[in-house]
Amino acid sequence: MDRYHVITFGCQMNKHDSERIAGLLETRGLAPARSVEDADVIVFNTCCVRENADERLLGQVASLKSLKTGGRPDVLIAVGGCIGQRDGATITERLPHVDVVFGTHNIDALPALLDAAERGRPAVQVLDGSETFASDLPSRREHPWHAWVPITVGCDNYCTYCIVPYVRGRERSRPIEDIRTEVDGLVADGVREITLLGQNVNSYGRDRYGTPRFADVLDAVATSGVERVRFATSHPKDLSDEVIAVMAERSSVCRQLHLPVQSGSDAVLRAMNRRYTREHYLGLVDRLRTAMPDIALSTDVIVGFPGETDADFEQTLDLFRSVRYDQAFTFIYSPREGTPAATLPDPVPRSVTQERFDRLIEIVQASAHEASRRLLGTRQRILIEGPSKRDERMLTGRTASGKVVHVGVDAGSLAAEKAGELMDVRITDAQTWFLLGEPIA
Ligand code: SAH
Ligand code: SF4
Ligand code: F3S
Repeated sequence: MDRYHVITFGCQMNKHDSERIAGLLETRGLAPARSVEDADVIVFNTCCVRENADERLLGQVASLKSLKTGGRPDVLIAVGGCIGQRDGATITERLPHVDVVFGTHNIDALPALLDAAERGRPAVQVLDGSETFASDLPSRREHPWHAWVPITVGCDNYCTYCIVPYVRGRERSRPIEDIRTEVDGLVADGVREITLLGQNVNSYGRDRYGTPRFADVLDAVATSGVERVRFATSHPKDLSDEVIAVMAERSSVCRQLHLPVQSGSDAVLRAMNRRYTREHYLGLVDRLRTAMPDIALSTDVIVGFPGETDADFEQTLDLFRSVRYDQAFTFIYSPREGTPAATLPDPVPRSVTQERFDRLIEIVQASAHEASRRLLGTRQRILIEGPSKRDERMLTGRTASGKVVHVGVDAGSLAAEKAGELMDVRITDAQTWFLLGEPIA
């Protein structure tokens, strides 16, 4: 075992976990491989939130079988993450060329499981819960200037469509002292941007006698000396005025909020067990925009939840027209075995869902383009992420509001070392999903 390759599916929590997986393997002396073909250990960190995520994994793992039969029988294949947690040993039954299966609660067991597999022993281990946080493990960050910092793990909300509570376990909050210590270390290490993570960061502390709360954690991180702080995800039922106040007061907290709405219909929200109303959600948007007129809002929405009528869907369209999101992740409902919604009657026919989906996308694109155009001519500070993939004479960065900006620079300024630096630019062109800018001297 010399070289490893980690393939990550799913959400930001999985991206974070993959950095810990890489960190653990490097502590054991492994180095990153240049490609899958070049690796001795291939780890899949998986997602099962929707059916297509499931299928993509199975397809990719299956295609690796030829690697093993085609001359590299010693390659070790490990499957972890949410599918590992959900399916356990049935994975090695279905896919006998998989050597190791681990779950979301025992990332730290991976090196020992790989050792066992190398010696030809069965290496499947999935736990019901965990006491440790993956964030206490060594890390190899994908970008030196950015760090994910989980503040909670798990989820207790049980939205009726969602598999996450079953594969990530009960919600647990990390002690604020541990968060502080990690953040101080990251700042000392040159990290410019921190993203606080949790399935619902706003319920931070509920399992720890209620104090400190998320507003306190956000304030502590915002005043740590880090340039930019983001956080995800916010559940609308738990977003407090205190959090909005910290966002407005602290300049390091990015004026950007991801606030998943899921549906604009009260009847559907009730069936989803979201525990807020359309009115409550729109009230939050008002309060956010009153406190921060320039805040960029994004959301998640599910189209075609069982029983969703035309009138329900019109309510979603109407909400989108009135909020005018900067960005939205639109999903077609996907039944997940074991969740309450999977047994509901009245599935929405595929053709109807598709038509609704297309209508919604049109509104999302229009409001995203409008949000971009509002920045035309303005001065923006971007955090440079590296050379642009669009044009080799450009650098790519992001505004505090999360918008991608490509900036033309002279050849001497293109060096990859620019990643992590801040640059002031004037916005010269606004497309739906990106902006163009020029440096301001
Ligand atoms: N904890 C976060 C993210 C959960 S998963 C939150 O609460 O917002 C990310 C998104 O996937 C969800 O917001 C939801 O829009 C979508 N999603 C979850 N389960 C789904 C399902 N069964 N079908 C379609 N979309 C789903
Ligand atoms: Fe899933 Fe709801 Fe928990 Fe988000 S809050 S992870 S959608 S159960
Ligand atoms: Fe997917 Fe697991 Fe995240 S199911 S969305 S990777 S918590």
